[in-house]
Amino acid sequence: MCGIVGYIGERQAVDVLIKGLKRLEYRGYDSAGVAVVNGQLSVHKKNGKVGELAKVLKTTRVIGTLGIGHTRWATHGVPSDANAHPHLASDGSFALVHNGIIENYNAIRERLTRSGFVFHSQTDTEVLTKLIEDVRNTTGLALPEAVRQALTQVVGTYGIAIVAEGEDDLLIAARKGSPLILGVGDGEYFLGSDAAPLIEYTRQVVYLNDGEMVVVSRGKFEVSTIDKKEVDPQIHELEWDLEQIEKGGYTHFMIKEIFEQPKSLANCMRGRVRADENIVMLGGLVDHMDSLSKADRIIICACGTSWHAALVGEYVIESLARIPVEVEYASEFRYRNPILRKGDAVLVISQSGETADTLAAVRQAQGQDIPVYGIVNTVGSTIARETDAGVYLHAGPEIGVASTKAFTAQVTVLTMIATKIAQTRGLPEDQSRAILKGLEELPDKVQSVLNLNGQIRAIAGVYRYAQNFLYLGRGYNFPVALEGALKLKEISYIHAEGYPAAEMKHGPIALIDQFMPVVFLAMKDSTYEKVISNIEEVVARKGCVIAITDEGNGELDKLCEHVIRVPKTIEELAPILTSIPLQLLAYHIAVMRGCDVDQPRNLAKSVTVE
Ligand code: G6P
Repeated sequence: MCGIVGYIGERQAVDVLIKGLKRLEYRGYDSAGVAVVNGQLSVHKKNGKVGELAKVLKTTRVIGTLGIGHTRWATHGVPSDANAHPHLASDGSFALVHNGIIENYNAIRERLTRSGFVFHSQTDTEVLTKLIEDVRNTTGLALPEAVRQALTQVVGTYGIAIVAEGEDDLLIAARKGSPLILGVGDGEYFLGSDAAPLIEYTRQVVYLNDGEMVVVSRGKFEVSTIDKKEVDPQIHELEWDLEQIEKGGYTHFMIKEIFEQPKSLANCMRGRVRADENIVMLGGLVDHMDSLSKADRIIICACGTSWHAALVGEYVIESLARIPVEVEYASEFRYRNPILRKGDAVLVISQSGETADTLAAVRQAQGQDIPVYGIVNTVGSTIARETDAGVYLHAGPEIGVASTKAFTAQVTVLTMIATKIAQTRGLPEDQSRAILKGLEELPDKVQSVLNLNGQIRAIAGVYRYAQNFLYLGRGYNFPVALEGALKLKEISYIHAEGYPAAEMKHGPIALIDQFMPVVFLAMKDSTYEKVISNIEEVVARKGCVIAITDEGNGELDKLCEHVIRVPKTIEELAPILTSIPLQLLAYHIAVMRGCDVDQPRNLAKSVTVE
């Protein structure tokens, strides 16, 4: 949600900034802007995607080796040139970019207006900029100190970066609630909301913690807390490389990431699963297995696709480990005064590791002394750092806004965790081995599902003009129905709903007619016969059924318009195989409808505001 970049060094800043903003564009793409210092401050901003700004900068030579940039996901104020960042002090003496929300901006704006400040945008960011200016003017403090003091007056979240006119060797950044990373090069430094813009130049990074500020010059950087305590920064080595954040010949990141799943799942399980020895090893949880396996209750908090993975986790943990599980939207959990007791354990799931609501859930539970474990993809992200322990997905960077490979890796990790807990609680060895063997076989089976791409593209062609879709599944495949519907909504803008198949009778059946495609997850599992009855009910009302079932199952051919057959696996692992045809279906329909698959309207990959 909003992307920030910064650079100070020997290179032309604008090149680094534009490239960096393009890499961060998945965080927001409503408008973009840069401020470059070369004695004077040169500020350019443009409504629309980074490409629009890049066009402007091609015709305007902006010289300077220090600068900041921003790609916006609008919160306060419509997408427009005026609301685009950077925002400037009234006298033009410094420029600021911001990711987050200043909650008390209205009160500050009114106060500053009374003191004679004039505002040119509707943003909370301009208010913060002018607050800093006011503090500087009234106290006579140098800019870094004025920033520090102004930040103590704001309520809300921020990742900010600032450069100033006539200050060719000064880059200031601070964070609270929104991520910021400092890339440490040789005589040069990079700022980014995440590692994507830095990876090309350096692998050495400092993750700023909440409430920290960094003052950077070409020779050094100094980290301190906003309330002025010294911090000894830790330099970390980045794991991801450049190739992983590029499209590598694919048309979109989403399809690249869908096709990466055999590899991402193999990486996710590497060194963790050994079926022949009945071993599942989760290094990050080794010292916490006791607390998890003896938990009276496990609460899983997440948002979006990660929440769907959590639902699969509920089924698999309850079924294998026999521990009661509750799944919560992190956004609800944080505000509904949940009952947490000694003996509870909280799992949070987040691809980005930065989702504001999920992070708040972490803090809420920790505040009540409940252990919190993370299932996170982005190494070094805030949730990964703040949880007591956890398991990384190792799925590699996910850039397409619609989550795909993270979902299958999340379900894989949840199954590994469930099996590990269940082993300590007496899961019969043959059952445990069957699950681990099922996990080991997944990458090949996922490849077989991907080989159905042509068939699924053809089905997409039939339904590309549909206005509604229904997705139905039961048991482990109910969360897959929700996820399939979400994928389609997100990227094709077709209205879609996921339901437990049996619930159809309580409402959605009223919607069914010859224009309603219904996707059924009809695997030959314990609910198969019941699902067949539900299919019959849809067919009797002229609905068009697309069924996902097991390889070798010919029973549905007469009943359904289209049958997609995926390899057989154990019931617990079915979501990993059945979700992939739905990812492909959504992808192809969206492409055929001319939608911007990687950057769907109004969405952002990493939701760092409430
Ligand atoms: C956004 C993304 C989704 C993602 C959700 C949760 O809505 O567009 O793809 O599932 O946030 O994100 P997280 O990074 O916490 O998994």
